[in-house]
Amino acid sequence: MNEKMAQTFNRYRDIIPDYEGFLTALEQPLPVAIRVNILKIGPGPFRDLMTNQGYKLEPVRGIEEAFLLHGIEAPGATLEYFLGYYQIQGLTSMLPAKILDPRRGEIILDLCAAPGGKTTHIAQLMGDRGLVVANDFKPERTHVLRSHIDRLGILSVLVCCYHGQAFPLRRKFDRILLDPPCSAEGTYRAGLPPILSENPKVARHLVRVQKELLRQSLAVLRPGGTLVYSTCTYAPEENEAVVNEALKDGEAELLPISLPFPHSKGLTSWNDESYQPDMVKAVRFYPHQVNSWGFFIAHLRKRS
Ligand SMILES: C[S@@+](CC[C@H](N)C(=O)[O-])C[C@H]1O[C@@H](n2cnc3c(N)ncnc32)[C@H](O)[C@@H]1O
Repeated sequence: MNEKMAQTFNRYRDIIPDYEGFLTALEQPLPVAIRVNILKIGPGPFRDLMTNQGYKLEPVRGIEEAFLLHGIEAPGATLEYFLGYYQIQGLTSMLPAKILDPRRGEIILDLCAAPGGKTTHIAQLMGDRGLVVANDFKPERTHVLRSHIDRLGILSVLVCCYHGQAFPLRRKFDRILLDPPCSAEGTYRAGLPPILSENPKVARHLVRVQKELLRQSLAVLRPGGTLVYSTCTYAPEENEAVVNEALKDGEAELLPISLPFPHSKGLTSWNDESYQPDMVKAVRFYPHQVNSWGFFIAHLRKRS
């Protein structure tokens, strides 16, 4: 690990349990995790199909449509991938859609949707019945989003391309996923370049955008509707602090999250800031606790 990353992670020494175990896990290869597209094939037949070709599939406790795929070099280059039988997706990235728990016939907004791992999971969980409005402000990223939607054979997603802060549709949504841009430190294990959150200018910009996007999301959520806020960073400034700000006026409340995976609770303080005591209902994932990448998830309900 280079000096800069070591410094970044060192900020979290006091909040990450078994910090040495965390550092060790960061250097372990990330397993290939896939989500079966149950709109096209069931997990059982998919497993047989792949096993017959010599692949080794390991089930994931708590996510029946997920497997770890062993002995594969290019999981995006199989016929089954092209046929839309599965999506490659980190295990922790599968949890926001599960926690959102969308139902058939509902109207859902995914405000920062590209490249679409979570959008397609939401549509799949709804049996492709209802409407998922998948928005992302970068047109070139929506091309990738559309290609996943086509490949997976999904019909219930409408793609649009607005700045989330000025999202124009005045329809109130039943559920919203907000997976905003973040410093992405949690994906270090996947070899992706993080945006270093200790760069104060970048960090301030990200936090401002995250707060604006969460405010706008709550504005277009129906009373009683639920929202999942997720990031792949460890930075409390982008996680608990953003959620805390949104809860201040009492318009929304945090919901408990029940999970099959080991995780840590949300923080109630960081440096000299305190957050609502309820913040323990949010969840943090560390790669030495769950064999995936780092993640933060909070589940909110807009009060009626
Ligand atoms: C973490 S990624 C989303 C990943 C996606 N949810 C998935 O599961 O594949 C954040 C996305 O937010 C988009 N984004 C950044 N700022 C935005 C804004 N102000 N409004 C809408 N989208 C934005 C980026 O283009 C990026 O695709």
